[in-house]
Amino acid sequence: MKRTILLAAVACLFAAVAQPAIKWVPEKQLWLLETDHTTYAFGYNERKQLQHVYWGGRVSRTDDFAAVKAPRDYAFETSEGMTPDEYSGWGGMRYDEPALKATFADGMRDLALRYVSHQITGDTLSVRLKDIDRDLFVTLLYTVHEKSDLVERHSKIENRTKGKVLLESAQSATWPLPNRGQYRLSYLAGRWAGETQLIREPVTPGVRVLDSRRGNTSHQLNPWFALDAGADENSGAVWFGALAWSGNWKIAVELTSNGFTRVTGGFNDFDFGYNLAPGDSLETPAFYGGYSSHGFGEASRIMHRFERTQLLPDRADPKPRPVLYNSWEATEFAVDEPGQTVLADKAAKLGAEMFVMDDGWFGARNDDHAGLGDWTVNPKKFPNGLKALIDHVNGLGMRFGLWVEPEMINADSNLYRAHSDWVVSFDGRRRTEGRNQMILNIARNDVRDYVYGVLDKMLKDNPNISFLKWDMNRHFSEPGWANVPVEDQKKIWVAYVRNVYWIFDRLRAEHSKVEIESCSGGGGRIDLGILNNRVHQVWTSDNTEAFDRLKIQEGFSMAYAPKVMMAWVTDVPNMNGRVTPLRYRFQVSMMGSVGVGGNLNHWSADDMKLGAEMVALYKDIRLTVQHGNLYRLLSPREGEVTSNFYVGADGKQSVLFAFLDHQQFNRGAAVIPVRGLQADGLYKVRTIDNKFLNKQDTLSGAYLMNNGVQLDLKGDYDSTVVVFEKVN
Ligand code: DGJ
Repeated sequence: MKRTILLAAVACLFAAVAQPAIKWVPEKQLWLLETDHTTYAFGYNERKQLQHVYWGGRVSRTDDFAAVKAPRDYAFETSEGMTPDEYSGWGGMRYDEPALKATFADGMRDLALRYVSHQITGDTLSVRLKDIDRDLFVTLLYTVHEKSDLVERHSKIENRTKGKVLLESAQSATWPLPNRGQYRLSYLAGRWAGETQLIREPVTPGVRVLDSRRGNTSHQLNPWFALDAGADENSGAVWFGALAWSGNWKIAVELTSNGFTRVTGGFNDFDFGYNLAPGDSLETPAFYGGYSSHGFGEASRIMHRFERTQLLPDRADPKPRPVLYNSWEATEFAVDEPGQTVLADKAAKLGAEMFVMDDGWFGARNDDHAGLGDWTVNPKKFPNGLKALIDHVNGLGMRFGLWVEPEMINADSNLYRAHSDWVVSFDGRRRTEGRNQMILNIARNDVRDYVYGVLDKMLKDNPNISFLKWDMNRHFSEPGWANVPVEDQKKIWVAYVRNVYWIFDRLRAEHSKVEIESCSGGGGRIDLGILNNRVHQVWTSDNTEAFDRLKIQEGFSMAYAPKVMMAWVTDVPNMNGRVTPLRYRFQVSMMGSVGVGGNLNHWSADDMKLGAEMVALYKDIRLTVQHGNLYRLLSPREGEVTSNFYVGADGKQSVLFAFLDHQQFNRGAAVIPVRGLQADGLYKVRTIDNKFLNKQDTLSGAYLMNNGVQLDLKGDYDSTVVVFEKVN
């Protein structure tokens, strides 16, 4: 009885204290969106134009904010054009990056959006806008991820006029930043085999465009940004965001002539043209935005936590990723039942939990000239079908995974011979091939259904396939969609991705036990859209050379969780002709989700022994790496030692990784202060080699964070892992 009263009292107290995540202040026409540590505020002015007010650390007192007032005119500008817009239509004297640009049926191209109404439903705010005299409506949707410290935004554009409206730009959101002087932009760029490298540059007047025109997310630029004005890894204010879209995207970072820094992002407006018939609408992709007052480290941890707990398929009950073996670098296309069986036996000895057979198992796929489209098992290579191999793999205690590239077609395939019209192309025009393949036009619902049917049948016929590595090995060219009216053909950019998502979603619903990896010839399809309940992990890069990986992985970790970062240990010499020790290669991989991709037939008994030890160590620490908090201590861009520190979610275990590239001038031991421990915690040290120089085997958090860990790293490509277990 007493307990019930106590619980009721606690519940009442909580109800009295709990604040809604979204506050509406009618007398000031202002909304406040609050997460645990941030506030995002905007309202509408006397013209009913939406105007941004504040984005930063949490300010809950609504009295602190003045009623929203439009700015004054300025020479060559109007008040309307000077307003820090939440979401601007292109119209009037407005010269900044618009969020929406439209042409009406009569050729009219002026757009002025004004507040109509709003609705708050739980953690979601929708604000309805309308053009000043045309029935074009825009609903801005804001979802507050309170615990994750993120605001999710997108827009829905609705044509209620009597004629067609052509959208020439449809952005998800504009994020206006406070006036803090000159910002610095951080973003992720690269190319095939060199993805997600962190680049930093000052934001200067004008527009800096980050985008993809390639039909998928791209290796070249990744849809993530961060802006700071003097932050570092551990301190200072950072505003950041990421788009959830695996097709043509655009993030425009702008410093306007009026001194506003703003970021607008959504569908790429390059080659964009989306016709809305009367009654039709278009929804833009989600654009997530966040603020950290503790530098880039905290900004990344916010993203990682969000992905783990809100996006990934196992978000409700996060599970560690298995250690997998993949055959690609060992055999390339030369797969067959005996060869894969031998590799599986060896992979099991290493401690792999999943065996993945890569490209080459289907159709006439002996190299990359043929077979894509024909998803039937090659009878010469697998006379007993896949079942015999799958049974063997399962018998070894491993799950079985399979490589597929369902969006693609080779000219030399039965599918192409039957349906050459299914290809993305312009009628009668050249069909440029990339890696000897073309793209199936999945924007077409009949092609989408066919591709889904093939995958569905494969999984039904082989119920013990528990993992798909879904690849995409080229980007778009000649983006024609022949069987729709000319005016709708540019819709291909949106419709293709939507239908690819549709296939993923349906597969996930029908085959919920099957896990999926997003691969696109390396890291070409890594974004929050594909990670949103569609795939469990991503293939980071075809570059598995461990030293290069330090930079690729550093950039990756800015935006994406270590858990989803597939990292294989492969053979040397690798890319760049570089030879690094096996221990170093394993330890670089252990900072993400470990896979082994080397040719185990070439591994010596010592390699196998070390490999098994490393896999066992990884299994001991993987919960900390995959579900813990990452502190980047030393960057591979800045010195000869790279170091990352992972603190387990419950604070009990933490793991230090350190890598020395090249020792010079007989430099002595590296001393690395760690972060994220409890100052009065006592940590028992577990070294796996003799590189930990501090004499004591138990050290306080205060000592480890202030004095640091002393490591005996020597020569070239040396590395170590130190595990700390909290004992008090
Ligand atoms: C590109 C992938 O990134 C590789 O890992 C491998 O799966 C090949 N495709 C197979 O063709």
